[in-house]
Amino acid sequence: MSGVWTVLLLWGCVFLPALSHGALVISQDASTPQGSDGATRLLKKRSTENAEVEMYSVKVNCKVASRFAHTVITSSALNKANSSQEVFFEVDLPKTAFITNFSMEIEGQMYTSEVKEKEKAKKQYEKAVSTGRTAGLVKASGRKMERFSVSVNIAANSNVTFILTYEELLQRKLGQYEIMTRVKPKQLVQHFEIVADIYEPQGIAFLEAYGTFISNELIPLVEKTVTDKKAHISFCPTLDQQRKCPGCDGTLIDGDFFIKYDVNRAETIGDIQIVNGYFVHFFAPPDLPQVPKNVVFVIDRSGSMSGIKLKQTKEAILTILNDLAEDDNFGIVLFDSHISTWKESLTKATKEIVSEAQKFIQGITDLGTTNINDAVMKAVDMIMKGIRDKKVPERSVSMVILLTDGMPNSGESSVPQIQENVRDAMGGNMSLFCLGFGNDVDYSFLDVMSRQNQGLARKIYEGSDATVQLQGFYEEVASPLLSEVDLRYPDNLVNSLTTSHYKQLFNGSEIVVAGRLTDNNLDNFLVEVFAQGFEDDFIVKGQASAQEWDILYPEQEYIFGDYTERLWAYLTIQQLLSKRETGTAEEKGNATALALEMSLQYSFVTSLTSMVVTKPETDEGPEGPLIADKLTEDERQKAHRFGNNVPQLMSNTWTHSSISPTYFVDGDPHFMIELPEQEDALCFNIDDKPGTIFNLVRDQLTGILVNGQTIGDKKVAPDGKVNTYFGRFGIVHQGLGVRLEVTTRDITVSQDGKQAKLFWSDSASLKGTNMDLQVTKDRSLTVTLRDSVRFVVILHKVWKQHPYHQDYLGFYTLDSHLLSPSVHGLLGQFYHGVQFEVRDMHPGKVSEKPDATMLVKGQELTVTRGWQRDFRWDVKNGENIPCWFIHSNGNGLIDGNHTDYIMSGLFKTV
Ligand SMILES: *[C@@H]1O[C@H](CO)[C@@H](O)[C@H](O)[C@H]1NC(C)=O
Ligand SMILES: *[C@@H]1O[C@H](CO)[C@@H](O)[C@H](O)[C@H]1NC(C)=O
Ligand SMILES: *[C@@H]1O[C@H](CO)[C@@H](O)[C@H](O)[C@H]1NC(C)=O
Ligand SMILES: *[C@@H]1O[C@H](CO)[C@@H](O)[C@H](O)[C@H]1NC(C)=O
Ligand SMILES: *[C@@H]1O[C@H](CO)[C@@H](O)[C@H](O)[C@H]1NC(C)=O
Ligand SMILES: *[C@@H]1O[C@H](CO)[C@@H](O)[C@H](O)[C@H]1NC(C)=O
Ligand SMILES: *[C@@H]1O[C@H](CO)[C@@H](O)[C@H](O)[C@H]1NC(C)=O
Repeated sequence: MSGVWTVLLLWGCVFLPALSHGALVISQDASTPQGSDGATRLLKKRSTENAEVEMYSVKVNCKVASRFAHTVITSSALNKANSSQEVFFEVDLPKTAFITNFSMEIEGQMYTSEVKEKEKAKKQYEKAVSTGRTAGLVKASGRKMERFSVSVNIAANSNVTFILTYEELLQRKLGQYEIMTRVKPKQLVQHFEIVADIYEPQGIAFLEAYGTFISNELIPLVEKTVTDKKAHISFCPTLDQQRKCPGCDGTLIDGDFFIKYDVNRAETIGDIQIVNGYFVHFFAPPDLPQVPKNVVFVIDRSGSMSGIKLKQTKEAILTILNDLAEDDNFGIVLFDSHISTWKESLTKATKEIVSEAQKFIQGITDLGTTNINDAVMKAVDMIMKGIRDKKVPERSVSMVILLTDGMPNSGESSVPQIQENVRDAMGGNMSLFCLGFGNDVDYSFLDVMSRQNQGLARKIYEGSDATVQLQGFYEEVASPLLSEVDLRYPDNLVNSLTTSHYKQLFNGSEIVVAGRLTDNNLDNFLVEVFAQGFEDDFIVKGQASAQEWDILYPEQEYIFGDYTERLWAYLTIQQLLSKRETGTAEEKGNATALALEMSLQYSFVTSLTSMVVTKPETDEGPEGPLIADKLTEDERQKAHRFGNNVPQLMSNTWTHSSISPTYFVDGDPHFMIELPEQEDALCFNIDDKPGTIFNLVRDQLTGILVNGQTIGDKKVAPDGKVNTYFGRFGIVHQGLGVRLEVTTRDITVSQDGKQAKLFWSDSASLKGTNMDLQVTKDRSLTVTLRDSVRFVVILHKVWKQHPYHQDYLGFYTLDSHLLSPSVHGLLGQFYHGVQFEVRDMHPGKVSEKPDATMLVKGQELTVTRGWQRDFRWDVKNGENIPCWFIHSNGNGLIDGNHTDYIMSGLFKTV
């Protein structure tokens, strides 16, 4: 048994997915034959040694033809148990990808999926929900990915194969294309492979492939063969090569696999391909000089930016200023409820001026509310004045970069009005780039406003790398090479063209235009590009002719021949979806209709469609359909803010609990607040005399009360430390008239004057209309009370002859979202979230446990990075969860003093 891998296992699987961004997972479920209880599922032992579901094959197969990537993930598992088991399949896929197909093969039978209009699918879904039998499948997962998951019940000794396909157009950023694949099989896999075949007609300039999890020993296993236009990459570690150490079961495969490459750019006109009735044009001319830019940074310094965010923003801006070219002009606008500028007008970015600006930036302090409207207006004025007064070069690109972390709440605060004002003021003469910092921004407001002004928005995630994210974004737009780029094709030969005018082309990016041809047999296809360059107009013309794909590349069976058509469809749908948010009502209507039609025709799961998977019938009756949706930006934002509990995605217990915050107390007693939303956890101990009764949860509105009484060791251990543990819990639901007393020996249930006793020595279940109790022999008790309040009590059996310790209990909250906002208690007060910020990490007393300053509930606390054990999956050993430890009985984190939570009786509220 190794302690190390269990930590990683936990990391990846269910409770802190945000920390790990989960991934390709097939996990088993050792639940009872009824099989639908999420709580029992959580309590199963998640170790690989005795896994009854063996995942024997995981294959990631990616084909890229001219940046269009088609990825198929195939995974097979065998249920070795002699009872049916629930098998999970989870895949993280890039947000920018569309799922196009999903199928399952079970006992030789194929179950397929169908892409349907979202509204229609929803009806089916709601019907299934009303009978309690369904799951929402896609949810947000980290920054770049979203997660597809599905589970099916598999009969004893049966195989299941899952096949998921998704497609995306790789976008060139900072001079390269990136293919990212997340692999976290969580167990050793007999056949594991990642294989990619790339075909790029322009020739491959460079290519690198690596995995975040790939150690020095595994590097030689990443094989790549690059021959002019083709690249073949594979990574196929054997069972033994996957092992963490010789003979152990932990797997090294746990992380992201990246392929990054760029293509040659010999032709200024770019590359034009005409295949199967569609054409695509890739435009990114080499060796162009930068066009000077006029940029105004509009920086939010409202109160919400205080602390780390403002610090990181300053750091980023300082570097960005250094990177300005000497013939760039720039300005700085700061805003909260007031607007101030560094200098009234744009200024040339000479070295002296830049260092003056940097001093100014360093002096920024935070205060006030957020007046976005006036701040952007000010920036627009500065640029327009610069242009009017001819202070900026005639051929220059103008842009406003707005950075904010909040919603407009001062000055003009109507979102549509601000959007209209900004659009009118900018008048197509400059671009707006918006950076939304953190989870409190109204991101879709920024997103729409940027796109209305030929720019784009980017989310900046709170975290230690925020400075890097800010700089990275700036780098992408820092070097405009061309402006007013107009790409022209013969009108009479092309219809259904994607966007062919771009406000600017940035260094390191690429413009892609695709269209459908009216004539399939072209000899000559004239392409022209007009744009404004640094000193001159930029004009290039070129000819292209249709290619018979089969003749040109007869042996390349791996290249899919209809890629130009699918690429065109992908691009068209993306652009239509964007138009839906920025156009007039009629444009929106037309765009929606067309995007929907095309999503259905090409079987893309977009924000307008859902994929309906028909699950096979099992012994326990037919299972409901499963639905996979694509998240909209709004839903993603909500998911980040509230965990993944977006109502329409929250459907069955396991999806729900897998990402929900978790609160528990266990051990000697340590309290743990796991917060996937913040990607972090908080912990504290409460030390007091044995026998003390503490209130853990109390909700007056729903009438729920949980108290716990501590016990001590049998006798004081030689180190003199008096350990306490919880030995008895009292759980009350007043409304239902239910009262439970749980001790290390038995469980007493009282309801309506009747009493029943359950013993830990037997597995048992007690089902009532309002209450469901489930005892797993000598291990755990799951309590589900009507309205989805669910607790688990874990029994820790200690060796009878142990000189000091005795049996004790742990208490875990699995589902508390239906409790009222006034819920309180040592655990209850955190059920509706807790805002905190950690900064200034520094070495602590123990070298491997750094200290830091935590801002929480208006106080500054010194906290220590440590870990505590979570015993849900491994009752014996527990699994380590890193957390911020709050000293002195949670003082400062919990409301009041821990003594305030002491109760006079197990069922008492005072
Ligand atoms: C399979 O079933 C038999 C009896 O039905 C039981 O004795 C045995 O322990 C089971 N094996 C496993 C691996 O569950
Ligand atoms: C979806 O995948 C299944 C299994 O690989 C395949 O049989 C089916 O043809 C695919 N459907 C589409 C539309 O590609
Ligand atoms: C499961 O699939 C594997 C590989 O295809 C095959 O060797 C094995 O016989 C199958 N087992 C069962 C029980 O179908
Ligand atoms: C564009 O980026 C490349 C590296 O990706 C760099 O070598 C080149 O100098 C840049 N050009 C300009 C004008 O910034
Ligand atoms: C944008 O620029 C054009 C040409 O320079 C000018 O005529 C127009 O008034 C400008 N728009 C706004 C809103 O200032
Ligand atoms: C919307 O579609 C209708 C019917 O196809 C067409 O007549 C109309 O011009 C379209 N409107 C816009 C704004 O594209
Ligand atoms: C909490 O209350 C106890 C008893 O009233 C007192 O001794 C202790 O100093 C208090 N602790 C804090 C941190 O206020």
